[in-house]
Amino acid sequence: MDSDKKEMPKHVGIIMDGNGRWAKKRNLPRTYGHKEGVKRVLDIVRAGYKMGIPYLSLFAFSTENWKRPQKEIDNLMFLLRTFLVEHVGELEENGVRLNVMGDLSALNEKTSRLVYEALNRTSKGDKMILNIGLNYGGQDEIVLAAKKIAEAVKEGSVGVEEIDSSLFESYLYTKGQPPLDLLIRPSGELRVSNFMLYQMAYSEFWFSNVLWPDFTESEFKKAIDDYQRRDRRFGGL
Ligand code: IPE
Ligand code: IPE
Ligand code: MG
Repeated sequence: MDSDKKEMPKHVGIIMDGNGRWAKKRNLPRTYGHKEGVKRVLDIVRAGYKMGIPYLSLFAFSTENWKRPQKEIDNLMFLLRTFLVEHVGELEENGVRLNVMGDLSALNEKTSRLVYEALNRTSKGDKMILNIGLNYGGQDEIVLAAKKIAEAVKEGSVGVEEIDSSLFESYLYTKGQPPLDLLIRPSGELRVSNFMLYQMAYSEFWFSNVLWPDFTESEFKKAIDDYQRRDRRFGGL
């Protein structure tokens, strides 16, 4: 299948999973899996902007991942900081605009400062929006939107009759973006783990047994090729 002729997904989401199992298979500590996983983040982001995917959403840390041992959480935050220090310049040069989905106030000061710096530095990017789920949960996102709308109604800036899906969407982290066309989850788990619940209403799903640290550009292309063969009907005929 020639992927140039078929429609590319506008918005791809990836639940980057399987780092721990990748390390375990090699008798290595889980941190090695996370470290290798970060390399795939870079590969997939590069592949994304080369292929001309305008919106890419990556799940990096969920609202439930705080249940993990503090040492693992610290390591994940360290890897995030390292990624930002080393690669934000490349994102900026390639027109990638970072957007965080999630509540940054729970991150420690040095991590959130680097995230805000990266958001500022890349704010003019117009080739691709890279959404990163950080302390992100789809349920939290929807509840937060409902709260903000309730406040707007209370103060009189929004009328109850104005609340529709388009108004609701403008209160999500993905404000102004198209819905998820394709959701990719590697590692063999067949669940969505609280990722982009609102945005995936009509997503195509692509599951794979490959663990995230093995998820190369060619796996990514397989997912896109498969997507391009799907018949999307959106409830119509
Ligand atoms: C994904 O890999 C990374 C995060 C959730 C932060 P995991 O750490 O969940 O790896 P597995 O699922 O235990 O293999
Ligand atoms: C989902 O993976 C979260 C991220 C990839 C950041 P998890 O490993 O946390 O999900 P579960 O626990 O298998 O559902
Ligand atoms: Mg996992």
